[in-house]
Amino acid sequence: MRLLEHGYSVHTTIRPDPEHKRDVSFLTSLPEASEKLQIFQADLSDPNSFEVAIKGCIGVFHVATPVDFENKEPEEMVVQRAIDGTLGILKACLNSMTVKRVVYTSSGAAVVFNDSDVDTMDESYWTDVEYVKALKSFAGPYFISKTLTEKRALEFADEHGFDLVTIIPSFINGPFICSKFPGSVHTSLAMVLGEQQKYGTLLNMSMVHVDDVARAHIFLFEHPHAKGRHICSSHTITIEKMSKFLSSKYPECPIPSLESLKEIEGSRLAGLSSKKLLDLGFKFKSGLDEMYDGAIQSCKEKGYL
Ligand SMILES: NC(=O)c1ccc[n+]([C@@H]2O[C@H](COP(=O)([O-])OP(=O)(O)OC[C@H]3O[C@@H](n4cnc5c(N)ncnc54)[C@H](OP(=O)(O)O)[C@@H]3O)[C@@H](O)[C@H]2O)c1
Repeated sequence: MRLLEHGYSVHTTIRPDPEHKRDVSFLTSLPEASEKLQIFQADLSDPNSFEVAIKGCIGVFHVATPVDFENKEPEEMVVQRAIDGTLGILKACLNSMTVKRVVYTSSGAAVVFNDSDVDTMDESYWTDVEYVKALKSFAGPYFISKTLTEKRALEFADEHGFDLVTIIPSFINGPFICSKFPGSVHTSLAMVLGEQQKYGTLLNMSMVHVDDVARAHIFLFEHPHAKGRHICSSHTITIEKMSKFLSSKYPECPIPSLESLKEIEGSRLAGLSSKKLLDLGFKFKSGLDEMYDGAIQSCKEKGYL
């Protein structure tokens, strides 16, 4: 949506849908879509399937990733699919002769899970795979696949003298245009929805508005000096501050008291520094108010609240 607004012609992909059962009207109804948006079918399980969509493009935003929080598949399979799919996309970019830069969407999950005892981490920190395995988290395969895929993408770019930058968003919050309830918005709203099993994730949460993430992708694509990894995270908030903020903002919601939060177990993750992105000239435009107001508005419109 933001690329179309910036005047770009856009190729996007959805997973194969031969019977046209998926509702993609949230894409086809975007302003300018009839003229400037083309939808292709591709799957990370078939690494060559992105070639047609990439042909003729000047830039590629590689956002898709396998997300399996129910651990339906073994970790090795999730990780291998992510790496193979990404390498397929990067090879197609290399062969296209038109792609000038790839922006690969990584995650704070590729940074924060290690035994460094610091308050804030920057791009020099990497998640440690053995550390994640010891955590035995339901999201472990996702953390590992984001870490190893980002590393492999950066190595591929080095090996082939190829222009690839990575963007590392923290928890993405804010409004959404698809009908699905995005997982990260759902978790960010755990206190508003009273979903206590998710409170452990909120102990020290780094967050960013989806519009800032979209703008940062385009900024990094266009900036002549962008290089390597870039954290994109505007706010870090403790669960105590979140409870105060949300209860004064939405007094009608059953936000838990500070006292009850003392029982919550989990680890307080380090915050994330976006200094490198800001030093390049990027500016965040949205705060926590816009994130929560936008998320709640979309939830109401789509029947989740
Ligand atoms: N949300 C966050 O807080 C957050 C934070 C940091 C980084 N990120 C990164 O941002 C990106 C988007 O994440 P999201 O939060 O928007 O999650 P999401 O809603 O689950 O999006 C993942 C996307 O990848 C697609 N996908 C999954 N497996 C695929 C496959 N085998 N082949 C092709 N496409 C496949 C999904 O397609 P379907 O729609 O068909 O399932 C979906 O469109 C990911 O790279 C994620 O790691 C997200």
